[in-house]
Amino acid sequence: MCGIVGYAGPIGGGAKEHSRPIEVVLEGLTRLEYRGYDSAGVAVLDGEGAHVVKRAGKIVNLKEALESEAVSESAVAIGHTRWATHGGPTNENAHPHIGGKQGKLALVHNGIIENFAHLKELLLAEGYEFHSQTDSEVAAHLVARAYDATGNLTTAMREVVSMLEGAFTLLAIHHDEPGTIVAARRNSPLVVGLGEGENFLGSDVAAFINYTSRAMEIGQDNIVTLTADSVDVIDFDGNPVTDSKRYEVEWDATAAQKGGYDSFMAKEIMEQSQAVADTLLGRSEDGKLQLDEMRIDEAVLRRIDKIVVVACGTAANAGEVVKYAIEHWCRIPVEVELAHEFRYRDPVVNEKTLVVAISQSGETMDTLMAVRHAQEQGAKVVAICNTRGSTIPRESDAALYLHVGPEIAVASTKAYLGQITACYLLGLYLAQVRGNLFPDEIAQKMHELQQIPGKIQQVLDGMDQVRDLARRMVDTQSVLFLGRHVGYPTAMEGALKLKEIAYIHAEGFAAGELKHGPIALVDEGQPVFVVVPSPRGRHSLHSKVVSNIQEVRARGALTLVIAEEGDNEVNQFADEVIRIPQTPVLFAPLLSIIPLQVFACELATAKGLDVDQPRNLAKSVTVE
Ligand code: AGP
Repeated sequence: MCGIVGYAGPIGGGAKEHSRPIEVVLEGLTRLEYRGYDSAGVAVLDGEGAHVVKRAGKIVNLKEALESEAVSESAVAIGHTRWATHGGPTNENAHPHIGGKQGKLALVHNGIIENFAHLKELLLAEGYEFHSQTDSEVAAHLVARAYDATGNLTTAMREVVSMLEGAFTLLAIHHDEPGTIVAARRNSPLVVGLGEGENFLGSDVAAFINYTSRAMEIGQDNIVTLTADSVDVIDFDGNPVTDSKRYEVEWDATAAQKGGYDSFMAKEIMEQSQAVADTLLGRSEDGKLQLDEMRIDEAVLRRIDKIVVVACGTAANAGEVVKYAIEHWCRIPVEVELAHEFRYRDPVVNEKTLVVAISQSGETMDTLMAVRHAQEQGAKVVAICNTRGSTIPRESDAALYLHVGPEIAVASTKAYLGQITACYLLGLYLAQVRGNLFPDEIAQKMHELQQIPGKIQQVLDGMDQVRDLARRMVDTQSVLFLGRHVGYPTAMEGALKLKEIAYIHAEGFAAGELKHGPIALVDEGQPVFVVVPSPRGRHSLHSKVVSNIQEVRARGALTLVIAEEGDNEVNQFADEVIRIPQTPVLFAPLLSIIPLQVFACELATAKGLDVDQPRNLAKSVTVE
C-alpha cells in the first residue's frame, strides 16, 4: 500500500539536468502506481521551503498539474502514490505533507501511525495547524519540530521514530539541508538505489530500475541519510549499520513495461511459461535437488511433524494447491491458513512445525505478523517470495525466491504459478531430506516439472477460444467455479480473479459441496466453470466431477469445462470444452488456472475496466 520514491542529486544540478529530480520521481511513481492510486504528489525544496504539488486520483492528474505549475531547481525530490487509509482520497490528504510552522519540511509516509490521535492533540496544543485527516501529517510536524530543536534532519528523524507506534516508512526533506533525504523504516518497505553521483529511494526496486540496477536492502528499524554521493545507515538507537546487503537487480526496466500488451496482467499471463522455467532454473544438480537459499539445518527439517502454510489471497490459494502434493510426497500433515486468521487465534505451533509463508511482495502485513507469531512459538519459517530484500524473506529462517520478474498488475498471475512451482520444489526437497521419496522418484518428478513450461505455452497459444467466450459473456452477473482435489483451489483462484478485476460476483466451490447448499444458486443460464481432473489415474474423482457437471446442467447451467486432451467423456455434458495438455494430476493446477486468468482479464477488458488497477485494491497490502 502506497509507493514512495526519493531522489538525491548534486546541489546546483552538477552534470545532471535541473528537471531530473522531478522526472526521476515521477517515473518511479508511475512504476509504483500498482501499490496505490488514490492520489499522488511530489515535493522539492525551493528558496523558501518545501514546495509540494499533489492531486487526488491517478498519477496522470499530478502530471497535468505539474505542466502548469513551475517547480524550482532542487537537488532532492520525494514522491508518493497513495492507497487511502486515514482520510479519503482528496487533494488535502494526498502526500507529501508540509511540516512545521514555517513550511520548511516535506514528508511522505507509507504505513499507519497507530498513536497519531494522541500526538495530534499535543501538536494542536502547541499551535501546529493541520490541513488533512491523515495520520501522516502528524509525522511531518513532529520531524519539523524536532529539526527546530536539533538542527539536524537525521537526529530529528531518530527522535520522532521513538515516539511513533505502528508501521511506517518515512521520507523527509528540509529546506536547511538542501541535498539530503532522510528516511526511516519500521514494518514497511524501503530500498536504496545506488547511482553514479546520484542516489535513490523506493518502496521497491521498480522505483529506480530505469536508472540503476544496484540496490541496497534497508533493515527493520533503520534510518538512512541519503545524498548524491553518500548513503549512511544507522539504527533507531543511533548505532551505525555497516552490514546493509547490496545486490544487483536481476531484471531490467523492460520487464516493468507493458511491451505492446493492453495491460500488465495480459503480459504477465503470457510470461507464465518463462516464469515457471525461471523458478525451476538451477535447482537440480546431479539428480539431487539443491535449494541454495535453504538455511534450515537438515536435522531440523527431519524432525518437523507439521507444516503450516500462511498467506493471503492468491498466495493462500497457491498454498491450498500444494498442500495435496506435499502431504502426498512427505507424509507430513499440511494446514493452510489465511495469515490474518492464524495470527489471532491460538494455533498449535512449536519447534517441530515448519511454517511456509507465501508472499509475492514479501511485504503483506498479515503474513509478516503470522511469521513473527510463528517464530515466537519456536517454529522455523521458510518464505516463498518474489521480491528480493523484502521484509518477509529477511525475517524468515530460509527463503526460496520465485525469480518470475516484477509482477505489476494487482491481480496476481505469474507469481501464482511461481509460488506453486517453488512450493513443489520445497516439497520435493523435504521428501529428499527426510527420505520419503527415492532419488529416482524425485528425478522423475523434476523431469515432469521441467515439461510444464512447454505445456503452459501450449495452453497460452490456444487461448483465443477463451477470449472469445469472455467477450460473449461481457454482461454476465455471476459465475460459479467448481473443482475437486487440486481443482478446488483452482476454482477458488478462478473466482478471485473474476471478482477482483471484472467486479463480477463469483464463487469457487468444492464440487462435492455442491449438494450441501450451493446448487441452490444454479438456475437457467447460470455459467459454471468446472475443472475436471484427468481421467487417467484417479478414475473415481473424474467420474464424480463428470456427475457434478450433469447435476448443474440438469438445472439449466451453462457448463464451461476445463478438461484434459483426450477426455472425450465430458463432451456430451459441456457447452464449451477448454482443453489443457495431459499432465500428472498434482501438476495440473499450473495449467488449468490459465484459461480462468485469461477469461477474467479479457472480460474485464471488454467491460472497459482498468485491468491492472482495479478499484479499492492495492498490489501489496502493508496494513493489517
Ligand atoms: C491477487 O490477485 C491479489 N491481488 C491478492 O490476493 C494477493 O495475492 C494477496 O494480497 C497476497 O499478496 P502477497 O503475495 O504479496 O503477499
